[in-house]
Amino acid sequence: MSLLSVSNLQAGYGKFKVLLGVSVEVPRKEITIVVGPNGAGKTTLLNSIAGLATIHFGTITYKGREIAGLPPHEIARIGISYIPQMGNVFPELSVLENLRMAGYTLEKAEFNDRVGEVVELFPVLKEFIRRRAGTLSGGERRMLAIAMGLIRRPELMLLDEISADLAPIMAKKILEKAVELRDRGITILMVEQMARKALEIGDNAYLLVSGVMKFSGGAKDLLNNPELARLYLGVR
Ligand SMILES: Nc1ncnc2c1ncn2[C@@H]1O[C@H](COP(=O)(O)OP(=O)(O)OP(=O)(O)O)[C@@H](O)[C@H]1O
Ligand SMILES: [Mg+2]
Repeated sequence: MSLLSVSNLQAGYGKFKVLLGVSVEVPRKEITIVVGPNGAGKTTLLNSIAGLATIHFGTITYKGREIAGLPPHEIARIGISYIPQMGNVFPELSVLENLRMAGYTLEKAEFNDRVGEVVELFPVLKEFIRRRAGTLSGGERRMLAIAMGLIRRPELMLLDEISADLAPIMAKKILEKAVELRDRGITILMVEQMARKALEIGDNAYLLVSGVMKFSGGAKDLLNNPELARLYLGVR
């Protein structure tokens, strides 16, 4: 059974519908990738799961429990961590203070243990632990945002375009971190525009176009589908 199942979802903002009946299966300990052009509804899909969009129809089931419409704090509490598309660190605070914000419910000793875990995954954060987050590079800031999501030891991470707007080497590095997270047992649902690179590291893939799924299957199968790849992925 999948960790998360989205079934026939119609969702948007207020009366405005963005997703027009979308289904996604997110199997445990795998990377599931949703790709698609600008405005397709990728972020809205993650917003819907995270409790930040209006659900009109359909179900969102996590560990067998219906979670559609739960508020964001409740979604976080049950083990789902959302790394939104932008602006998700506090630039005026240090790296450590940012992590503290993300783990504010934890006891000090527990928090320290977990900081140890996340800096092991992102050694650059250890080096810059006292630096203001605003002085980090785009890639380092992205790593901090992921680290903040990890502090609560989520079972499922929702990652929105973690490789966007980064130099190719940094984008690759970040995507490799997603693989490392999966290998540590975290289930990942990610949305990506750098479709080709993301599909290379993914297990399952969906292609979302104008609120409708146009493909679902193996990530490699989407990459190797000549017609879809040419139309939507900039791959030839
Ligand atoms: N908060 C909001 N209120 C109203 N409409 C919104 C809101 N956020 C997004 N939309 C609209 O929903 C549609 C889908 O947007 P969404 O952000 O889900 O697309 P996306 O696939 O993530 O695109 P991108 O690749 O550019 O990030 C767009 O038409 C957008 O204008
Ligand atoms: Mg988006």
